[in-house]
Amino acid sequence: MGLINKSYIGWDRFNKSIINSHQDLETYRASYDMGSLDFYDRYIRRESWLYNKRILDLGCFVGGKTQLFSESGAKEVVGIDLSKRGIKIAKKYENEKLKYYRTSSTELKKEYKGYFDTIISFTVFEHIQKELLPTVIDDCYELLSKNGICIIVYNFFYDKYGAHVEHCIYHPFPQFLLQKKHYLEYCDKRLEEFHKKGLYGYFPLGYSYCKNTHNEDCYMELNRLMSFKFKKLLRESKFKKIEDFQYSRSEFVKLLFNTFPKSRLFESSHFYILYK
Ligand SMILES: C[S@@+](CC[C@H](N)C(=O)[O-])C[C@H]1O[C@@H](n2cnc3c(N)ncnc32)[C@H](O)[C@@H]1O
Repeated sequence: MGLINKSYIGWDRFNKSIINSHQDLETYRASYDMGSLDFYDRYIRRESWLYNKRILDLGCFVGGKTQLFSESGAKEVVGIDLSKRGIKIAKKYENEKLKYYRTSSTELKKEYKGYFDTIISFTVFEHIQKELLPTVIDDCYELLSKNGICIIVYNFFYDKYGAHVEHCIYHPFPQFLLQKKHYLEYCDKRLEEFHKKGLYGYFPLGYSYCKNTHNEDCYMELNRLMSFKFKKLLRESKFKKIEDFQYSRSEFVKLLFNTFPKSRLFESSHFYILYK
Protein backbone atom coordinates (compact mmCIF):
# COMPACT_ATOMS: atom_id res chain seq x y z
CA MET A 1 0.00 0.00 0.00
CA GLY A 2 1.28 3.49 -0.91
CA LEU A 3 0.99 4.65 2.68
CA ILE A 4 3.75 2.43 3.94
CA ASN A 5 6.20 2.88 1.15
CA LYS A 6 9.38 3.75 3.02
CA SER A 7 11.11 4.97 -0.08
CA TYR A 8 8.93 8.07 0.05
CA ILE A 9 11.19 11.10 0.56
CA GLY A 10 10.01 11.77 4.13
CA TRP A 11 11.62 8.59 5.39
CA ASP A 12 15.16 9.81 4.91
CA ARG A 13 14.58 12.97 6.82
CA PHE A 14 12.86 11.04 9.55
CA ASN A 15 15.77 8.68 9.92
CA LYS A 16 18.34 11.42 10.04
CA SER A 17 16.69 14.04 12.14
CA ILE A 18 13.82 12.69 14.18
CA ILE A 19 15.06 9.29 15.29
CA ASN A 20 18.44 10.58 16.30
CA SER A 21 17.23 13.81 17.74
CA HIS A 22 14.54 12.31 19.93
CA GLN A 23 16.95 10.34 22.04
CA ASP A 24 16.87 13.10 24.61
CA LEU A 25 15.24 16.50 24.77
CA GLU A 26 18.51 18.43 24.78
CA THR A 27 19.48 16.82 21.49
CA TYR A 28 15.96 17.34 20.24
CA ARG A 29 16.27 21.03 21.07
CA ALA A 30 19.58 21.47 19.30
CA SER A 31 18.70 19.55 16.18
CA TYR A 32 15.03 19.22 15.40
CA ASP A 33 13.67 22.23 17.30
CA MET A 34 16.32 24.65 16.11
CA GLY A 35 16.66 22.85 12.81
CA SER A 36 13.46 23.91 11.04
CA LEU A 37 15.47 26.74 9.57
CA ASP A 38 14.05 26.44 6.14
CA PHE A 39 10.58 27.21 7.44
CA TYR A 40 11.95 29.84 9.80
CA ASP A 41 13.85 31.63 7.06
CA ARG A 42 11.07 31.43 4.56
CA TYR A 43 8.20 32.60 6.72
CA ILE A 44 9.25 34.07 10.04
CA ARG A 45 12.62 35.74 9.83
CA ARG A 46 11.33 39.19 8.86
CA GLU A 47 13.14 42.13 10.27
CA SER A 48 9.95 44.05 10.91
CA TRP A 49 8.62 41.23 13.08
CA LEU A 50 11.80 40.44 14.99
CA TYR A 51 14.40 43.17 14.97
CA ASN A 52 14.38 45.29 18.11
CA LYS A 53 11.02 43.81 19.09
CA ARG A 54 9.63 42.38 22.28
CA ILE A 55 8.62 38.87 21.30
CA LEU A 56 6.51 36.24 22.99
CA ASP A 57 6.88 32.61 21.93
CA LEU A 58 3.60 31.04 23.01
CA GLY A 59 4.02 27.28 23.52
CA CYS A 60 7.80 27.21 23.23
CA PHE A 61 8.36 23.74 24.78
CA VAL A 62 12.19 23.36 25.09
CA GLY A 63 12.62 26.81 23.59
CA GLY A 64 15.03 26.27 20.70
CA LYS A 65 13.07 28.46 18.30
CA THR A 66 12.61 31.04 21.04
CA GLN A 67 16.39 31.30 21.19
CA LEU A 68 16.52 31.74 17.42
CA PHE A 69 14.10 34.67 17.67
CA SER A 70 16.34 36.16 20.32
CA GLU A 71 19.40 35.75 18.13
CA SER A 72 17.61 37.51 15.27
CA GLY A 73 18.10 40.88 16.91
CA ALA A 74 15.05 41.00 19.16
CA LYS A 75 15.06 43.42 22.05
CA GLU A 76 13.63 40.89 24.46
CA VAL A 77 12.13 37.43 24.10
CA VAL A 78 9.88 35.50 26.47
CA GLY A 79 8.96 31.84 25.92
CA ILE A 80 6.08 30.25 27.77
CA ASP A 81 4.79 26.71 27.93
CA LEU A 82 2.77 24.56 30.29
CA SER A 83 5.32 21.76 30.12
CA LYS A 84 7.52 21.45 33.20
CA ARG A 85 10.00 19.25 31.36
CA GLY A 86 10.21 21.65 28.42
CA ILE A 87 10.69 24.80 30.49
CA LYS A 88 13.24 23.10 32.74
CA ILE A 89 15.47 22.52 29.72
CA ALA A 90 14.72 25.90 28.16
CA LYS A 91 15.71 27.74 31.32
CA LYS A 92 19.32 26.59 30.94
CA TYR A 93 19.57 28.91 27.95
CA GLU A 94 18.23 32.02 29.59
CA ASN A 95 20.09 35.28 29.42
CA GLU A 96 19.32 38.94 29.98
CA LYS A 97 17.22 39.16 26.84
CA LEU A 98 15.76 35.67 26.84
CA LYS A 99 13.46 34.31 29.54
CA TYR A 100 11.27 31.24 29.84
CA TYR A 101 8.30 30.71 32.13
CA ARG A 102 6.07 27.78 32.85
CA THR A 103 2.78 29.57 32.66
CA SER A 104 -0.31 30.11 30.55
CA SER A 105 -1.11 33.10 28.36
CA THR A 106 -3.90 34.01 30.76
CA GLU A 107 -1.53 34.14 33.72
CA LEU A 108 1.10 36.03 31.77
CA LYS A 109 -1.45 38.66 30.86
CA LYS A 110 -1.59 39.77 34.48
CA GLU A 111 1.94 41.18 34.21
CA TYR A 112 2.56 41.60 30.51
CA LYS A 113 -0.61 43.20 29.16
CA GLY A 114 0.15 45.31 26.07
CA TYR A 115 3.85 44.41 26.31
CA PHE A 116 4.79 42.43 23.21
CA ASP A 117 5.26 43.69 19.65
CA THR A 118 5.18 40.22 18.15
CA ILE A 119 3.71 36.92 19.32
CA ILE A 120 4.83 33.78 17.56
CA SER A 121 3.07 30.51 18.20
CA PHE A 122 4.50 27.63 16.28
CA THR A 123 2.29 24.55 16.00
CA VAL A 124 0.53 25.13 19.31
CA PHE A 125 -3.03 26.24 18.51
CA GLU A 126 -3.96 22.87 17.02
CA HIS A 127 -3.26 21.44 20.49
CA ILE A 128 -5.40 23.85 22.46
CA GLN A 129 -8.82 22.56 23.44
CA LYS A 130 -11.62 23.98 21.32
CA GLU A 131 -13.35 25.53 24.32
CA LEU A 132 -10.17 27.35 25.35
CA LEU A 133 -9.30 28.74 21.93
CA PRO A 134 -11.32 31.99 22.14
CA THR A 135 -9.67 32.78 25.50
CA VAL A 136 -6.16 32.15 24.23
CA ILE A 137 -6.80 34.20 21.08
CA ASP A 138 -8.08 37.01 23.28
CA ASP A 139 -5.01 36.64 25.55
CA CYS A 140 -2.83 37.16 22.49
CA TYR A 141 -4.71 40.31 21.62
CA GLU A 142 -4.34 41.66 25.15
CA LEU A 143 -0.65 40.76 25.41
CA LEU A 144 0.18 42.73 22.26
CA SER A 145 1.11 46.36 22.18
CA LYS A 146 -0.72 48.77 19.87
CA ASN A 147 -0.21 47.66 16.24
CA GLY A 148 1.37 44.41 17.42
CA ILE A 149 1.11 41.25 15.35
CA CYS A 150 0.51 37.63 16.21
CA ILE A 151 1.85 34.87 13.99
CA ILE A 152 0.26 31.47 14.25
CA VAL A 153 1.57 28.39 12.51
CA TYR A 154 -1.33 25.97 12.56
CA ASN A 155 -0.71 22.39 11.61
CA PHE A 156 -3.78 20.76 10.19
CA PHE A 157 -4.17 17.29 11.69
CA TYR A 158 -4.90 15.61 8.37
CA ASP A 159 -1.87 17.12 6.70
CA LYS A 160 1.05 14.90 5.96
CA TYR A 161 3.23 17.93 6.61
CA GLY A 162 1.56 18.83 9.85
CA ALA A 163 0.48 17.51 13.21
CA HIS A 164 3.74 15.69 13.86
CA VAL A 165 2.92 12.74 11.68
CA GLU A 166 5.07 13.54 8.70
CA HIS A 167 7.13 10.42 9.20
CA CYS A 168 4.05 8.24 9.80
CA ILE A 169 2.29 9.10 6.58
CA TYR A 170 3.69 8.40 3.17
CA HIS A 171 0.92 9.85 1.09
CA PRO A 172 0.58 13.62 0.62
CA PHE A 173 -3.22 13.43 0.89
CA PRO A 174 -4.13 10.86 3.53
CA GLN A 175 -7.61 12.35 3.66
CA PHE A 176 -8.24 10.99 0.16
CA LEU A 177 -7.50 7.50 1.40
CA LEU A 178 -8.58 7.26 5.01
CA GLN A 179 -11.51 8.43 7.02
CA LYS A 180 -10.64 10.42 10.13
CA LYS A 181 -11.08 7.47 12.50
CA HIS A 182 -8.87 5.16 10.43
CA TYR A 183 -6.32 7.87 9.81
CA LEU A 184 -5.92 8.50 13.55
CA GLU A 185 -5.75 4.78 14.28
CA TYR A 186 -3.06 4.48 11.66
CA CYS A 187 -1.03 7.33 13.22
CA ASP A 188 -1.31 5.74 16.64
CA LYS A 189 -0.20 2.40 15.31
CA ARG A 190 2.84 3.88 13.60
CA LEU A 191 3.83 5.85 16.70
CA GLU A 192 3.48 2.72 18.80
CA GLU A 193 5.77 0.84 16.43
CA PHE A 194 8.39 3.59 16.70
CA HIS A 195 8.16 3.56 20.48
CA LYS A 196 8.61 -0.18 20.65
CA LYS A 197 11.86 0.28 18.76
CA GLY A 198 12.79 3.13 21.12
CA LEU A 199 12.87 5.48 18.17
CA TYR A 200 10.48 8.26 18.86
CA GLY A 201 10.76 9.94 22.21
CA TYR A 202 8.66 13.06 21.83
CA PHE A 203 5.37 11.20 22.26
CA PRO A 204 5.37 8.83 25.22
CA LEU A 205 4.41 5.19 24.94
CA GLY A 206 0.68 4.80 24.76
CA TYR A 207 0.25 8.22 23.22
CA SER A 208 -2.97 8.29 21.33
CA TYR A 209 -4.16 10.97 18.98
CA CYS A 210 -7.71 9.96 19.75
CA LYS A 211 -7.75 9.54 23.50
CA ASN A 212 -4.90 10.97 25.48
CA THR A 213 -4.96 14.53 26.65
CA HIS A 214 -1.27 15.15 26.97
CA ASN A 215 2.22 13.94 26.34
CA GLU A 216 3.41 13.50 29.92
CA ASP A 217 3.11 17.14 30.93
CA CYS A 218 3.14 18.47 27.40
CA TYR A 219 -0.30 19.25 26.04
CA MET A 220 -0.38 17.55 22.70
CA GLU A 221 -3.89 16.40 22.06
CA LEU A 222 -5.09 17.61 18.70
CA ASN A 223 -8.31 19.61 18.62
CA ARG A 224 -8.80 18.53 15.00
CA LEU A 225 -10.50 21.74 14.00
CA MET A 226 -11.05 22.42 10.31
CA SER A 227 -9.30 25.58 9.11
CA PHE A 228 -12.50 27.40 8.23
CA LYS A 229 -13.71 26.87 11.81
CA PHE A 230 -10.44 28.09 13.28
CA LYS A 231 -10.52 31.09 10.98
CA LYS A 232 -14.08 31.82 12.09
CA LEU A 233 -12.82 32.02 15.68
CA LEU A 234 -10.07 34.40 14.58
CA ARG A 235 -12.61 36.54 12.74
CA GLU A 236 -14.78 36.71 15.83
CA SER A 237 -11.83 37.96 17.88
CA LYS A 238 -10.80 41.57 18.41
CA PHE A 239 -8.00 41.46 15.83
CA LYS A 240 -8.64 44.03 13.14
CA LYS A 241 -7.11 42.17 10.21
CA ILE A 242 -6.25 38.56 9.51
CA GLU A 243 -4.09 37.21 6.73
CA ASP A 244 -3.67 33.53 6.09
CA PHE A 245 -2.14 31.18 3.60
CA GLN A 246 -1.49 27.51 3.21
CA TYR A 247 2.16 26.68 3.46
CA SER A 248 2.36 23.04 2.57
CA ARG A 249 0.50 22.69 -0.69
CA SER A 250 1.06 23.35 -4.36
CA GLU A 251 -0.45 26.42 -5.97
CA PHE A 252 -3.03 24.24 -7.68
CA VAL A 253 -4.22 22.69 -4.41
CA LYS A 254 -4.31 26.14 -2.81
CA LEU A 255 -6.56 27.26 -5.65
CA LEU A 256 -8.86 24.30 -5.07
CA PHE A 257 -8.88 25.02 -1.36
CA ASN A 258 -9.79 28.65 -1.92
CA THR A 259 -12.60 27.56 -4.21
CA PHE A 260 -13.89 24.94 -1.75
CA PRO A 261 -12.74 26.25 1.64
CA LYS A 262 -14.91 23.83 3.59
CA SER A 263 -13.64 20.71 1.89
CA ARG A 264 -11.22 18.72 4.01
CA LEU A 265 -9.86 17.16 0.84
CA PHE A 266 -7.93 20.30 -0.10
CA GLU A 267 -7.21 21.56 3.35
CA SER A 268 -3.72 21.80 4.80
CA SER A 269 -1.60 23.57 7.36
CA HIS A 270 -1.90 27.33 7.65
CA PHE A 271 0.11 30.35 8.55
CA TYR A 272 -1.92 33.20 10.06
CA ILE A 273 -0.90 36.79 10.65
CA LEU A 274 -3.20 38.70 13.01
CA TYR A 275 -2.98 42.48 13.27
CA LYS A 276 -4.02 44.33 16.41
C1 LIG B 1 3.87 20.77 19.16
S1 LIG B 1 4.53 21.58 20.53
C2 LIG B 1 5.31 22.93 19.75
C3 LIG B 1 6.48 23.42 20.52
C4 LIG B 1 7.32 24.48 19.84
N1 LIG B 1 6.56 25.68 19.56
C5 LIG B 1 7.94 23.94 18.59
O1 LIG B 1 7.76 24.53 17.53
O2 LIG B 1 8.61 22.92 18.64
C6 LIG B 1 3.12 22.29 21.28
C7 LIG B 1 3.44 22.93 22.60
O3 LIG B 1 2.35 23.72 22.99
C8 LIG B 1 2.25 23.66 24.40
N2 LIG B 1 0.91 24.11 24.76
C9 LIG B 1 -0.27 23.54 24.48
N3 LIG B 1 -1.28 24.28 24.97
C10 LIG B 1 -0.71 25.37 25.54
C11 LIG B 1 -1.20 26.53 26.19
N4 LIG B 1 -2.51 26.71 26.37
N5 LIG B 1 -0.32 27.44 26.66
C12 LIG B 1 1.00 27.27 26.49
N6 LIG B 1 1.53 26.20 25.87
C13 LIG B 1 0.69 25.26 25.41
C14 LIG B 1 2.54 22.20 24.71
O4 LIG B 1 2.90 22.00 26.05
C15 LIG B 1 3.65 21.92 23.72
O5 LIG B 1 4.92 22.13 24.28
